[in-house]
Amino acid sequence: MKIFIDTANIDEIKRYAKIGFIDGVTTNPALVAMEGNDFRQTVEEICVIVDGPISAEVVSLDVNGMVREARLIAGLHPNIVVKIPATINGFEALNIVASEGIRTNFTIVYSANQALLAAKLGATYVSPFIGRLDVTATDGPALIREIVTIYDNYGFKTKVLAASMRNAVYVRQASLAGAHVATIPPVVLHDMMFNEMTEVGLNGFLDEWNKLPPEKRSYFE
Ligand code: E4P
Repeated sequence: MKIFIDTANIDEIKRYAKIGFIDGVTTNPALVAMEGNDFRQTVEEICVIVDGPISAEVVSLDVNGMVREARLIAGLHPNIVVKIPATINGFEALNIVASEGIRTNFTIVYSANQALLAAKLGATYVSPFIGRLDVTATDGPALIREIVTIYDNYGFKTKVLAASMRNAVYVRQASLAGAHVATIPPVVLHDMMFNEMTEVGLNGFLDEWNKLPPEKRSYFE
C-alpha cells in the first residue's frame, strides 16, 4: 500500500519525507487554510520536497469554476493531482478534466456508487472518507472492500485512496481491506511507528547491557 501524508504543513512533510515512507501528499482547502500560508507557494514547496503525487483541491462549486481551477492547479507541477469533490457538478467537471489528461483525486466520497461512476469517468484516485463515515456508524473498511471489488470486477485503473484516517486503526483496516493508498496525518504516522512495548523491551535490554563492565562494552566508543 502506498502511503501519502495528509497535511499542508511543510515541516511535517519534510520530517516524514526524510524518514522515507512517504509516496505522496494530499491537501485540502481546510488543511491549507490551517497553515495560514499562500496556496500556490505551499503547493509548489510541497512538490519540491516529495517526488510523488501531490493532491490540491479546487474550491469552486460550479462546473466551469472547477474546470478552470483544475487547469490552473495542474499547471503548477507535473506531479499534481487535482482534487474534485464528489458533488453532481464535480462529476461533470471530472469528466472534462480527466479527458484533458489531468490526473484527478475524486474526493469526499461516501458510497460505492460514487466510486463506480468516478472510475467510469477516468478518475485517477477516488477518496472514501473512512473516519468521517465511522462517525455515522457506517462500516468504512466494508466500503473500501466494495470499491476494490467493483474496480477488480471491471478492470478499472482508478486507485482507492483511503482518506480521513483519523487514527492508526483506520490505517490497519484500510490496508486489510485492500486500499491501494492511505493518506495519513502526521500524528497518526507517529502513532503507527510508536509502540510502548518496544520502548519497554529496549529499556530492559539496555538495563542489562549497562551492567557489563565499561571496558567490555568499549567497542562503540
Ligand atoms: C484527504 O484527502 C482528505 O481531505 C482528508 O483525509 C480528510 O480528513 P478529515 O476527515 O480528518 O478532515
